[in-house]
Amino acid sequence: MNTSHEWSPEAWKQKTLRQGIAYPDERALAAALEQLGQLPPLVTSWEVERLKGLLAQAQHGEAFLLQGGDCCEQFADCRSETIVAKLKILLNMSMALTYGGKRRVIRVGRFAGQYTKPRSSDTETQGGVTLTAYRGDLVNRPEFNAAARTPDPALLLRGYERAALTLNFIRGLVDGGFADLHHPEYWDVGFVKFAALSDEYTRIIGNIGDGLRFLETLAGRPLDELQRQEFYTSHEGLHLPYEQSQTRHVPRRSGWYDLTCHMPWIGNRTNQLDGAHVEFFRGLANPIGVKIGPKTAPAEVAELARVLNPANEPGRLTLIHRYGAPEIALALPPHIAALQAADQQVLWCCDPMHGNTKNTRTGRKTRDFQSILSELEQAFDIHRACGSHLGGVHFELTGENVTECVGGARGLSEADLEHAYHSNVDPRLNYEQSLELALLMARKMSAAT
Ligand code: PEP
Ligand code: CO
Repeated sequence: MNTSHEWSPEAWKQKTLRQGIAYPDERALAAALEQLGQLPPLVTSWEVERLKGLLAQAQHGEAFLLQGGDCCEQFADCRSETIVAKLKILLNMSMALTYGGKRRVIRVGRFAGQYTKPRSSDTETQGGVTLTAYRGDLVNRPEFNAAARTPDPALLLRGYERAALTLNFIRGLVDGGFADLHHPEYWDVGFVKFAALSDEYTRIIGNIGDGLRFLETLAGRPLDELQRQEFYTSHEGLHLPYEQSQTRHVPRRSGWYDLTCHMPWIGNRTNQLDGAHVEFFRGLANPIGVKIGPKTAPAEVAELARVLNPANEPGRLTLIHRYGAPEIALALPPHIAALQAADQQVLWCCDPMHGNTKNTRTGRKTRDFQSILSELEQAFDIHRACGSHLGGVHFELTGENVTECVGGARGLSEADLEHAYHSNVDPRLNYEQSLELALLMARKMSAAT
């Protein structure tokens, strides 16, 4: 493929576009994109560069990436409680991981713009009627009728605005401090008593609290005054016209920045070397992610790293692997070996969600806590055995009390899924399941340090 430096924000249009959207009104689409291009950016280039520097630290084992949020945000979830709950769980998990890994944790949300979804089929048929599949709130609406499912360019602007509202609130919370959010005293740990490892969880939580109090006593100030609780934003950069509309040069810097979020990623369905997504992403200055799965050939992984990070810049490329608990032991070692042979540096991040999705007897999509944990634990061990290291994790989670994944301390069963299943797409870990996973990871990480 052509990896020369001739690149422009629209060069992707010459390549094969997968998961593209057919808008019936092209003039309306062009007008919406034109307007989007005039709006101020959601994030700034200096924040983007700062995140790249932090990811470089994670690549060298001096920090750890925690990336998480909804599979697909809904516009209706742009509410203060939902946003606070998501920040709270990410913050709580990051405290546990800092304790376990003895490293700074970089928090990157799948939020403030995670509004589009790839689908296995462009259409959906119900009762003999075929309509466009639901592709996320940025594109169309989930209700099954022709009006709702028609891709509507006005939603691009609505999505951009919702992302801005979300980010504005997050920035306000970060600046005001989260005094009541980051101390284990305020964590909801009612589930601990149901866990087999109850005593150990209690000890870890107690140690985190002691550590924080010790730090604060030394400094004579609360933690949120000691360290800014930074959050960065990320989403799958699936909708290329949307991403392109906000991709620009900024004064006094070289390179093109996609300023819809700090760290966009390429999904597993759109990671082909000859595809439009790889072409678009290779020209961005942002730190970027690319998902890889059990079907990605080792040679392809090495070539992706070369094309997406030709200068081998630290922090530039995160490989997010998502194989499934039964597959990881076979798929990961050849991927690591291919990168080592090509001398390409990347940050390795494990997404233990997307390879572990299954359907229940009643047709619900779910994931089992045990499979998620198993893929994660194997990822830590395999990287170590292969002379590499796992520098991050990627979760689909929510801070709320949903019932979408089975298992965890309370032993959620398939029947329990009916109580609070809210996702339109993939099942998310709830608050308790997320915190329990973080405690189990902390245990695993501290055993290794
Ligand atoms: C996702 O992250 O929601 C997703 C679709 O994952 P993947 O690209 O890994 O299948
Ligand atoms: Co998903």
